Amino acid sequence: MRFLLNQNFSSVDLGEINPNMTVLEWLRSNQLVGSKEGCASGDCGACTAVVGELVANNKTTEIKYKSINTCIALAYSLIGKHLVTVEGLAEGDRLHPVQNAMVLENGSQCGFCTPGFVMSLFALYHNENKTNLAKINEALSGNLCRCTGYKPIISAAFLAINKKNKEPLDFYKKNQKQLKEALVKLSDPKNISVSFAKGEKIINYDAPSNLEELSKVLSNNSSAKIVAAGTDLNLEITQSMKEFPHLVSVNRVPELKSISDNGADLEIGAAVSYEDAASILIGYWPDLDSFLQRFASLPIKNWATIGGNIANASPIGDMPPVLIALDAKLKLRKGSKVRIINLEEFFISYKKTSLDESEFIESIIVPKPNDNERLITHKISKRYEDDISAVCMALKVTTKGSHPESVKIALGGMSGIPQRAIELEKVMLENWNNDEIVAASYNALKSEFSPFSDVRASSEYRLRVTANLVKKSLLILKGLPLENLAHYSVASKL
Ligand SMILES: Cc1cc2nc3c(=O)[nH]c(=O)nc-3n(C[C@H](O)[C@H](O)[C@H](O)COP(=O)(O)OP(=O)(O)OC[C@H]3O[C@@H](n4cnc5c(N)ncnc54)[C@H](O)[C@@H]3O)c2cc1C
Ligand code: FES
Ligand code: FES
Repeated sequence: MRFLLNQNFSSVDLGEINPNMTVLEWLRSNQLVGSKEGCASGDCGACTAVVGELVANNKTTEIKYKSINTCIALAYSLIGKHLVTVEGLAEGDRLHPVQNAMVLENGSQCGFCTPGFVMSLFALYHNENKTNLAKINEALSGNLCRCTGYKPIISAAFLAINKKNKEPLDFYKKNQKQLKEALVKLSDPKNISVSFAKGEKIINYDAPSNLEELSKVLSNNSSAKIVAAGTDLNLEITQSMKEFPHLVSVNRVPELKSISDNGADLEIGAAVSYEDAASILIGYWPDLDSFLQRFASLPIKNWATIGGNIANASPIGDMPPVLIALDAKLKLRKGSKVRIINLEEFFISYKKTSLDESEFIESIIVPKPNDNERLITHKISKRYEDDISAVCMALKVTTKGSHPESVKIALGGMSGIPQRAIELEKVMLENWNNDEIVAASYNALKSEFSPFSDVRASSEYRLRVTANLVKKSLLILKGLPLENLAHYSVASKL
């Protein structure tokens, strides 16, 4: 149960801990109190730290550092990795260049959020040699400031990174080789199985290291809960005070962490991080880029998995509508039995899926696009960054000449499940050149969907905005300007 911590080359033992314990709790109970608890739900960034993992890069292996929210990551997820917290930045009396820049630019404001900001900047400093405002905004997308503003922090980011090449290397660059060796020593291919005694209760944790063992553990423990990154599941621990009696991690199974390409399809392992899956998908569907940037914040993207985004069966998850529109399939496994189903058949009702007891998602199979296919995606949310969708729309159009041959539309936020919009597909095909398409779309949506009203949007808003998105999609597909979109607004046509 060992991992590397800050500037130590010798590993640290997590000790006998409850498998439900988060990284933040572990840190704070071990006198590392720089990381703060603001929200305990991945929303504020006060708990941000950086995790380094060995990754293969061409023929070499290197350590990749990324920011995470320690409040919703399980302490056991650190095994074999390198955790850098704000306590690990300065070398003796010498501040790290990002800390120094924060001092010089007056970036330390309320103080409570500062360690989190510093750690997000540290990850950026480590990964970039040159920066720009877009990269800085992305790096800080998970850090909220409600007291003063972001300007001094952004200035600190520019200062630290622009001066980087003129300054001595920081501890982690200087000692890359030793840190890598220490991590290699920690790479243990054995299965992890822990039983923690809490009074009369035993709390179990398994982290199998291959597919066969994962299948076996789940088959033998049908009530065990699968945890991938835990960015969704662990909120039950930190917000609902739930304690899982048996957790099974899928994160050490190489088969679930790989991406393969058989020519016609991409097969993305369920435990591939959102960030890695996104970079592959954007290569084939460039229009996805701006949509995927809207997913959560960088620390969540870095940690969350694509399988978790599907298996949590949230009606407002961002990937399911996209993947349904792309005709994705799921490879599900139970023991040695494998079945492949269309993603749209996976969702049964609110938070209910077609997964059988002990069955899990092994991978997601996504057909590669043909030349005449185009994917358009929209996310409607109150905030641009780090916000869950009120409505999400994905639409794949296959064209023949200048005309559509087929359209596949999937919607999030419009019912209890991510759902295909079959009536809307017909309307879009029939009204390709009709100015009344917004009203026709609205009527089709109303006949097929009864959206809920909640804090994010009312039922009526959801219907109207989706009808308007059909028109917007059409203008995008035809390459027409979007400036006059308001003219088509559903309000003026109904
Ligand atoms: C601050 C914040 C912002 C967020 N923003 C967004 C957003 O913009 N868009 C969005 O879509 N989501 C968002 N989320 C939700 C969440 O981050 C994603 O759904 C994420 O992809 C879940 O993946 P995970 O690996 O963390 O899943 P986990 O939390 O580990 O698991 C989620 C569920 O899936 C099950 N599960 C996981 N893997 C498997 C598997 N292989 N087989 C079977 N079951 C499995 C688990 O048992 C659990 O029930 C946000 C979350 C937070 C905290
Ligand atoms: S404490 Fe707010 S993101 Fe972790
Ligand atoms: S820096 Fe903490 S609220 Fe602004």
